[in-house]
Amino acid sequence: MIKGAWLRCLYALGLCVLVAGCEQGNGEPKVDGRWYSQSQVDLGKKVYAENCIICHNEDARGTFNWRTPLPDGSYPPPPLNGTAHAWHHPLGVLKKVIEQGGIPMGGKMPGFGGKLSDKEELAVISYFQSFWPEEIYKAWLARGGLN
Ligand code: HEC
Repeated sequence: MIKGAWLRCLYALGLCVLVAGCEQGNGEPKVDGRWYSQSQVDLGKKVYAENCIICHNEDARGTFNWRTPLPDGSYPPPPLNGTAHAWHHPLGVLKKVIEQGGIPMGGKMPGFGGKLSDKEELAVISYFQSFWPEEIYKAWLARGGLN
């Protein structure tokens, strides 16, 4: 009985590792020290150009006045290039923000849950993370970015 539960548990764990591995583009060499591969960044660049650049700007630099609330209390699109808060969120949270957008929290960003695949969401995260300087990426990892 207990043995069966253990086996199921191990099996579930193995499956998670496998799925996470595939989602993160295993098999291809990673960009040095990062979780993603160059082909993810390349796909992410396309996804970004089609869906995000209109608000978050070229090179994920956001808007210059992103700290100042608009008259309706919402904020302009922040940079995603490591100079704002995006690096405070672990991968899973970043993915959720992209899926749900900010409208449920009184913000302006639309959700992309029905529009982008898991693969595209992870790719677009890898793209904006490719702008993060090494020390920001390390700080993100140290906060449990990949947990
Ligand atoms: C219509 C404009 C708009 C589009 C399009 C848009 N965003 Fe946003 N985004 C925002 C705004 C504004 C915020 C701040 C929260 C809010 O108001 O919803 C935000 C917040 C975020 C955050 C949280 C940043 C933080 O510092 O916590 C992430 C991550 C993000 N956007 C990623 C993306 C990605 C990736 C795409 C494309 C798939 C995208 N956004 C498309 C406007 C947009």
